[in-house]
Amino acid sequence: MESLRNWTILGCGAIGGMMAGLLSRAGHQVSLLRTDKEQVTLPIILRFEDLDGQIHQVEPDFLLPKDADNISLLLVTTKAYQVAPAMTPLIDRLPTHTPILLLHNGMGTEDWVKDHFPDNPLLIGITSNGALLVEPEHIRHTGPGETWIGAANPAAQACRPLVELLAQALPHAAWSEQIHRQQWTKLVINAVINPLTALNNIPNGELIAFQADIQTLCRELLPLLAQQGFSAPEKYWVDKVLQVASLTASNYSSMHQDLARGRPSEIDAMTGFLLAEARRLGLSLPAHQALYDKIKAKENSHE
Ligand code: PAF
Repeated sequence: MESLRNWTILGCGAIGGMMAGLLSRAGHQVSLLRTDKEQVTLPIILRFEDLDGQIHQVEPDFLLPKDADNISLLLVTTKAYQVAPAMTPLIDRLPTHTPILLLHNGMGTEDWVKDHFPDNPLLIGITSNGALLVEPEHIRHTGPGETWIGAANPAAQACRPLVELLAQALPHAAWSEQIHRQQWTKLVINAVINPLTALNNIPNGELIAFQADIQTLCRELLPLLAQQGFSAPEKYWVDKVLQVASLTASNYSSMHQDLARGRPSEIDAMTGFLLAEARRLGLSLPAHQALYDKIKAKENSHE
């Protein structure tokens, strides 16, 4: 059981830092993995501000890919587009029994991880916890949320006890037998909220004034969602989007924050993933394509 309390985190942004803080506060051992030059500047001590405003100091161990033998649980909290470059140094080094838990917005990384780490138990997680990187060493937990984790391959089915331990550290964590369904639902919500808020420079709550756009974007996805086994009507998706926007009303979406800071956005793992899936099935998504093009133009204007 001790090895289930020994986490190595790859990607110490807002979510990675929040996980480090929550796990360490609950008595789990936390190490940070450095894989590239950028991460050499990882803070030595993290300041984790919990939901009550209390500050907890986290003093993680630091590991390099050559230490991969010591990784008993790998939590990958990089952005989706960083998963492949950040995990590449672990290929042929990570023990094959080490479970990998992917926890990021968007989709499209699972196949790459399965191809390069075929024997490792692979878990997929989604979380609605809010976290903010106030400074690289100061992470604020801004809102409680739900975390759902499920198996992406048969080997991961044995990892359920891990989720019970996580539930002691997080506001909520539970096992899901339908993790891909939940991932798709979150993907739809993100693909509507994130580009609309980033392009209109608004917090999530102000999306209430964009109902016509939200309806168009949701309607357009229905044939693609039907192919994934979803039969819910447009109203279901519009209500879901508006519900999340109102629960996170004062938050600026992660895409808004990324673009405001001149960082690449996760548009490829959100809208880009939907567009690729639609193309594969001969469907077209003109409203989503237009958002994709505008976000890409914004990203390029930073370069
Ligand atoms: O990416 C985000 O910001 C979040 O997933 C969400 C749910 C849209 C809330 O801001």
